[in-house]
Amino acid sequence: MEKILNALPTSKTIHPDVNVLKDVHKRSLENPELFWQKFADELFWYEKNGLAFQPMEEPPYAKWFASMKTNISYNALDRHVESWRKNKVAYYWEGENGEKRTLTYYDLYREVNKFASVLRSLGVRKGDRVTIYMPMIPELLISMLATVRIGAIHSVIFAGFAAQAIADRVNDSQSKVIITADESYRRGKTIEIKGVVDEALKHTTTVEKVLVVRRGHNIVNMVEDRDVWYHELVESADAYVEPEKLDGMHPSFILYTSGTTGKPKGATHGTAGYMVWAYFTQKVVFDVNDKDIFWCAADVGWITGHTYIVYGPLISGVTSLIYEGAPDYPTPDRWWDMIERYGVTIFYTSPTSIRMHMKHGESWAKKHQLSTLRILGSVGEPINPEAWSWYYKYIGQEKTPIVDTWWQTETGGIMISPQPGLALVPLKPGSATFPLPGVDADVYTEDKMIAKPDEKGYLVIRKPWPGEFITIWGDHERFKKTYFTKFPGFYYPGDFAMKDSDGYLWLLGRADEVLKVAGHRIGTIELENVLISHPAVAESAVIGKADPIKMQVPVAFVILRPGYTPSPQLRVELINQIRQAIGPIAAPQALYFVNKLPKTRSGKIMRRVIGAVAEERNIGDITTLEDETSVEEAKKAYEEFKLEILSVEENLR
Ligand code: WTA
Repeated sequence: MEKILNALPTSKTIHPDVNVLKDVHKRSLENPELFWQKFADELFWYEKNGLAFQPMEEPPYAKWFASMKTNISYNALDRHVESWRKNKVAYYWEGENGEKRTLTYYDLYREVNKFASVLRSLGVRKGDRVTIYMPMIPELLISMLATVRIGAIHSVIFAGFAAQAIADRVNDSQSKVIITADESYRRGKTIEIKGVVDEALKHTTTVEKVLVVRRGHNIVNMVEDRDVWYHELVESADAYVEPEKLDGMHPSFILYTSGTTGKPKGATHGTAGYMVWAYFTQKVVFDVNDKDIFWCAADVGWITGHTYIVYGPLISGVTSLIYEGAPDYPTPDRWWDMIERYGVTIFYTSPTSIRMHMKHGESWAKKHQLSTLRILGSVGEPINPEAWSWYYKYIGQEKTPIVDTWWQTETGGIMISPQPGLALVPLKPGSATFPLPGVDADVYTEDKMIAKPDEKGYLVIRKPWPGEFITIWGDHERFKKTYFTKFPGFYYPGDFAMKDSDGYLWLLGRADEVLKVAGHRIGTIELENVLISHPAVAESAVIGKADPIKMQVPVAFVILRPGYTPSPQLRVELINQIRQAIGPIAAPQALYFVNKLPKTRSGKIMRRVIGAVAEERNIGDITTLEDETSVEEAKKAYEEFKLEILSVEENLR
């Protein structure tokens, strides 16, 4: 541990690498035009006129590479196919059942061209939306690259989402085509995902074609004139499809994420800014080179997979590993075994996964030779020092740095993190250290003042950066209101943070009503909406309860309508309603019936009071930042609410 942790900078003695970072960071903010122009030269452009960066009248939006033309698929594939990397491995893919596939850059290029030709034959044109609902098989990535190749816009939906969630997203994006597979595998079980799509399509009107990729062997219901098999259409596909020459700000994809209203937000990314950011962050944070075997063990259905399984690694010409299934299947050492077998050099996962492996015990990791690893990464939630130390000791063998990377769906790529590709500063377990070049991050108080060292406040990004999303699909007003009004002129991510006296940033979790369950964003109000759509429910409140592995789990409190009585059956029915509407990841761990919910005098539900009760904490532990009501009022509500739950729970026995 000493090697990485030693020489922690203090305000008096700054480590030399901190100065290197600060210098590059300063240059990037002083002259963004020059900084990003120079970096963009490493990539391919059809036209490279005009400015890299045009601030807009309402900062911190900007137009990035707006009058330049490029194509992400060209930069991810054709650029390498024209170089010595043509036959370099792009992906090693392993199925949960041990099946294997290897795709070189040239293999992938050929597959993507054919897929693009099939999409064109289905009538997909530039600007059309294509929904992708697929398991973690190479065709998932191939279909994304094919979509951006022809200038269409992909909307990937995590394969764990349920029919209603798919229908909502398809309706919002008005997708013309859905790409799916017949089935997927998880923990040895077969899931008929085509059936989920069929169910979803009962509630949509825009979808003209369903393109189905064969993964399994079972008989699948195919709807005439609507559903087509990929393997049949590909027989007459063209071998080459010219990439569309796209403007820098052309939307490349929509990725839905939870916010503080019931409607998921379609975070929309542009083309050139996102592309440059994916490439830049892949290099600066993961320090990739041609000898690396890079493994981001996320799901492509989330932003981490979009940027660090698909776009960042491919644009950088790296060899990556993709794994289809569960991390501890069939035995808890599945991941460690794969690191050994493929000689993985850089490994990126979430604190929830690390804690799950901690629970299984280090003996599983000790069975394997992990010495090829040189960088470990963490993403999605704050990493607690115990998990950090376990990861460092047993996976990194006390010699690999851990890059704790803070970012969001909206930011496109990593924003705050150690940067071994530039200079490796001494690490502090639990701190994401410093912002990347181009990221002007600081911590502000509720009164819009810069917070003092060690004072908890809100993270704020003061200037635009290339990876910044360009809008919320179909709702630009919501985009402005959600992100740019709390701190006028600045981007507000919705996170608590703190900066210590050495200038290190500590990200402390969400400041809004969005939960982080096993690293996934879940809006409490989305769950409440599902609950109140049940005839028995009058009112509900969902909060996040601290969990030793998943960080948070949803817990629901429900007031029933007159005429309904609490029962274990009703509890199961309500939890199942959430599973069926959103998916199993959103299922509450507990559901309590109550007679009333704690509210302020103005009628706002006091979530922190409910949270304190659910976690069996005292109301006094609550942070003052969230405290909008008087302490007395909160205390009274706390006591009353506690009693309400107990009385109903007793009725149940
Ligand atoms: C949280 C995931 C602390 C944060 C890439 C953010 C983190 C939200 C970290 C975005 C980290 C992500 N330390 N918190 N290293 N990384 N978060 O959109 O609350 O799924 O706002 O993107 O995850 O979640 P999202």
